Amino acid sequence: MPNQPYSPGRFLFGGDYNPEQWSRETWAEDIALMRRAKVNTATIGVFSWAELEPREGEYDAAWLDEVIENLHSAGIGFFLATPTASPPPWFTVAHPDALPVRPDGTRVLHGSRDTYAISAPAYREAARRVATFLAERYGSHPGLRGWHIHNEYGTVDHGPHAARAFREWLERKYGTLERLNAAWYTAFWSQRYGAWDEILPPMQTQYLHNPAHLVDFKRFCSDEMLAAFTEQKEAIRATGSSAPITTNFMLPTWNHLDQWSWSDAQDIVSIDHYLDTTGPDGEAHVAYGSDLTRSWAGGPWVLMEQSATGIRVGDRQLTKSPDRMIRNSLAYIARGSQSSLFFQWRASAAGSEVWHGAMVPHAGADSAAFEAVVRLGDILERIGEVADPPADGVVLDAGIGIVWDAEGWWSLETPHLPTDAITYRDEVRAAHRALWRGGYATDFVRPGADASRYRLLVVPALYAMTRETARWLESYVESGGHLVVTFASGLADQDQRVVADGYPGMLRGLLGVRSEQISPLAEDDAVELSNGWRAGTWTEQLRLESASAVVRYETGAMAGLPAVTRRDLGRGSATYVSAKLTQTSLDAFIAESAVAAGIEPVVAGAAASEVEAVRRRGAGADYLFLLNHGTRPVRAQGAGVDLITGAEDVLELGAGAVAVIRESRGGWTISS
Ligand code: GAL
Repeated sequence: MPNQPYSPGRFLFGGDYNPEQWSRETWAEDIALMRRAKVNTATIGVFSWAELEPREGEYDAAWLDEVIENLHSAGIGFFLATPTASPPPWFTVAHPDALPVRPDGTRVLHGSRDTYAISAPAYREAARRVATFLAERYGSHPGLRGWHIHNEYGTVDHGPHAARAFREWLERKYGTLERLNAAWYTAFWSQRYGAWDEILPPMQTQYLHNPAHLVDFKRFCSDEMLAAFTEQKEAIRATGSSAPITTNFMLPTWNHLDQWSWSDAQDIVSIDHYLDTTGPDGEAHVAYGSDLTRSWAGGPWVLMEQSATGIRVGDRQLTKSPDRMIRNSLAYIARGSQSSLFFQWRASAAGSEVWHGAMVPHAGADSAAFEAVVRLGDILERIGEVADPPADGVVLDAGIGIVWDAEGWWSLETPHLPTDAITYRDEVRAAHRALWRGGYATDFVRPGADASRYRLLVVPALYAMTRETARWLESYVESGGHLVVTFASGLADQDQRVVADGYPGMLRGLLGVRSEQISPLAEDDAVELSNGWRAGTWTEQLRLESASAVVRYETGAMAGLPAVTRRDLGRGSATYVSAKLTQTSLDAFIAESAVAAGIEPVVAGAAASEVEAVRRRGAGADYLFLLNHGTRPVRAQGAGVDLITGAEDVLELGAGAVAVIRESRGGWTISS
């Protein structure tokens, strides 16, 4: 995690600004509108490589000088991106080997963006060069808020450069082919490697891939992209520029990076977050993205992109209401964001993302969408003091942790598991959603981290884990923690090798259960449990060893056998859920687990009134965010002042409205 809590002294407000697509008249209007909306930050240069370096080694930054001067003289700061996510056509013509290759061997050509092979020396060299050029020119500009290296690392290459770098990575990891062959279990299906050069990235093949090979390739890609990021970071630092450095992670669907190790290399952890539903679950999704990012950052973070007006669902662009845009923006901030930044400032007139939402829509400033932007700018100014973090950087005081591990995702997506109908992301989200619905403050936790602040630790579907992780969970319980492990956890080690002598091998002793048989259910099948809960997809034939049954299977092949078990260990406990509960049953289970661990929701009863209550810690006070996601007004009572309206102690919160209360003390109540 970054060394210091990120504290820009205000909330950053603005977004990706791509003026290279507009005329000078529009530039002038942009600045006037930014001032009207109290925009204070623009992210520039994200995909400007062809403008900046129109021919190899020939730079033209006069236009960028002008853009920066326009912003700076209007008092608007900027994140300066290195443009390396989109090499220009001249680059790929000159270096065709630096284009990425897909698993089926086809080379992706330019014509879109992100057409680079991360391990190609020509690409790495060109990326360092353009980063150095920008840093030498703008690295000490007073308006520079920070460096935005690249954009959303995640282009995976399977070509010859990747193959070479992957082999080198494997050689460093295993030392000898014997060790690699053992770890990859190559005795099966005649996969034994006799020379390093025989090893390929996981290309399209006849049938199932080797799972250890797949997971190692994911690890390699994350490390390789991190090395490319680090080279640019070092190139910038070598010029003497000391502005903070970040790269924007892409949530929620990308799984290319091990975000914990990447976060260690950032000065600011930042994400792009796009909702995947217009429905109420989008609110839970905002909380999920925010809690993850704050946890990776170990404190305040930056929302680098969201959409101002649209939500892309499948094949259509649905509308994000102005109301929702404001509520979501404050929800990110409640959970530690230091910003409300959007992609993009002005809707493009043409091009690939012409229908993407923007702060200034096609209709122009005379629009409800832009009015909402102006209103948000005003709110952010009113609540500015909240941006000042406490010295320890802990902006949310959470008593519950969910273990997050990118490797868990990678291992659960290897094919041909007992069922391939479960995904890590959905299981983690289901656990987080249940906690969100209960109104609990939640962090995500890195395996091996100090978890002593959490009275409840949830481990969803962590299929593969190391012995160290298993031991870490044991010592968490031994020191009085309450652990909840859900199905499909602890089955395999870091080489995807199943732990023998009964499931869930790695955690058998800790959980005090042994299962001989995992019995996935057919798609349309479900079982009932003894307390009325329901489950599908995954069941297990559990035998109790040192645990006792809390809930049993009521119907189906496992009827009468334990479904949920608990083992008490001193003051701590270890609970195992052997089936995939429906979300409603999971909500009930999680709420019971929180109560049993003695944890209170942030504001009792708020969730039942469809109000999300989040307490953000500040340098001088605590701030209670109340977000009314419901369709009815509510009344909040307590001691404090709403920084948005100035109302004190008794607040009427209309449907969709938000309050940010500087608390005099806790103890708020919500009534309908
Ligand atoms: C982001 C990307 C932006 C834009 C946006 C559209 O992933 O960084 O450049 O493409 O998505 O939603």
